[in-house]
Amino acid sequence: MQKKRILVIDDERLVLWSLVQKMTRWGYEVVEAESGAAGLRALTEESPDLLLLDMKLPDAKGTDVLENLRKNWPELPVVMITAFGVIEDVVTAMRRGAYDFITKPIDDAKLRSTVVHALEAAALKKKIAAYREIEKTKHISGPIIGETPVMRQLLDVVKKLAESETSIILLQGESGTGKDLFAQTLHLWSRRSEAPFLAINCSAIPANLLESELFGYEKGAFTDAKQQKRGLVELADEGTLFLDEISGLDLSLQAKLLRFLETNTFKRVGGLRDIEVDLRVVAATNQDLETLSRQDKFRKDFFYRLNVCPIHLPTLAERKDDILPLARHFIVQYNQKFNKAIQGLEPEAEKLFLQYGWPGNVRELRNAIERAMIFEESPLISPRHVPIRLSNPPPGETRTASGPVVPEGMSLPEAEKRMVIQAFEKAGGNKSLAARMLGISRDTLRYRLSKLNEEPGPKS
Ligand SMILES: Nc1ncnc2c1ncn2[C@@H]1O[C@H](COP(=O)(O)OP(=O)(O)OP(=O)(O)O)[C@@H](O)[C@H]1O
Ligand SMILES: [Mg+2]
Repeated sequence: MQKKRILVIDDERLVLWSLVQKMTRWGYEVVEAESGAAGLRALTEESPDLLLLDMKLPDAKGTDVLENLRKNWPELPVVMITAFGVIEDVVTAMRRGAYDFITKPIDDAKLRSTVVHALEAAALKKKIAAYREIEKTKHISGPIIGETPVMRQLLDVVKKLAESETSIILLQGESGTGKDLFAQTLHLWSRRSEAPFLAINCSAIPANLLESELFGYEKGAFTDAKQQKRGLVELADEGTLFLDEISGLDLSLQAKLLRFLETNTFKRVGGLRDIEVDLRVVAATNQDLETLSRQDKFRKDFFYRLNVCPIHLPTLAERKDDILPLARHFIVQYNQKFNKAIQGLEPEAEKLFLQYGWPGNVRELRNAIERAMIFEESPLISPRHVPIRLSNPPPGETRTASGPVVPEGMSLPEAEKRMVIQAFEKAGGNKSLAARMLGISRDTLRYRLSKLNEEPGPKS
């Protein structure tokens, strides 16, 4: 654990000296300042974890310094030091967000317990902030389904790695092969599972924003940095940070992350102080990083660092025996979500599932089940509702440039329903695009889809 840093602002030399002595002996790193102005400077330069602030300073009242710094350091715990009996000041200080106060002459035991409690309370606050982040990124995911030998072997490796002290793991695999799910599972199976799991997509955010998302910033680091902000690296302390689509990372940020991975320390943007954390980084990519690094599009040193414990996720086509178990797994999930009671796939539908190549891997399979279950009204999913059938139209139903011809004897509502479904599928589930293809508004499409969804499900 890194030593906690305490800033003491007090103009009485002797008090200052004795506080520094004591707290250093207790294992803290102590920084001192003798005036309000020097104190505020030290706050920026040293970013302490706790502030001991004297009520009476040569250039300002402690309560005013407190008010001033609150704007920029809203989360910093502050303990006031006051002469005995100045109760109004204490009340003002507490109102302005001081954590506690101690009176002069300072009692060692009281000082020590106040410092410990203030730091604990701040750590707790930080944890809560981290959990808020988790709530934001949380999504449904279940267990990893994998019954084929290749998956069983892989799951063994994943379990060992998860339980190990390895702090960097690289997940490689095509889109939809389960990188997100594996990253979460690596966290869940690790000793870190009670701590945060935070994820960020490195390709989705511009480099300068990404840097402050990752490392946080100090007040004044740039125009909009009105107050100090902690980054994901700090919030994920003791837990797991998932860096998704790592190939999209800017070369200069790669260098910064590499430094972080090698030292476990970082600086907030605009900050001077090295902050130490203990976390596991799981990186994921659907690109071949080795090739990218040979083309100088990815730093070689960074790649080698990441590639110490690589996990390669097989495509669904490489493990066809998992197709039906996965299908069943998703049927159970969507039964719950849609409040339906679908029992499985018709044999013909199973055949289609097994024949198909699944270029979009497990995600495509999941989407196929989801769509089929929106439209299916009988207990078994029929091939009619299997979207992949569109790429292998059964005989009797020819395909033209504008899509399949409506079979004879189909009613208008049924034909309409099919058109809606087809457009939705062609658009890859993108409602705006599907609506445009059908020449209707997005709201109309949404209404139609919801109608389809509301049609009575099977009676079980
Ligand atoms: N082995 C599996 N068992 C159960 N569900 C799985 C499995 N693999 C993937 N899934 C599910 O399939 C969906 C897609 O997986 P995921 O998002 O993890 O893929 P990905 O590799 O991260 O894709 P991308 O590269 O596009 O981000 C998710 O809903 C995930 O829960
Ligand atoms: Mg993913």
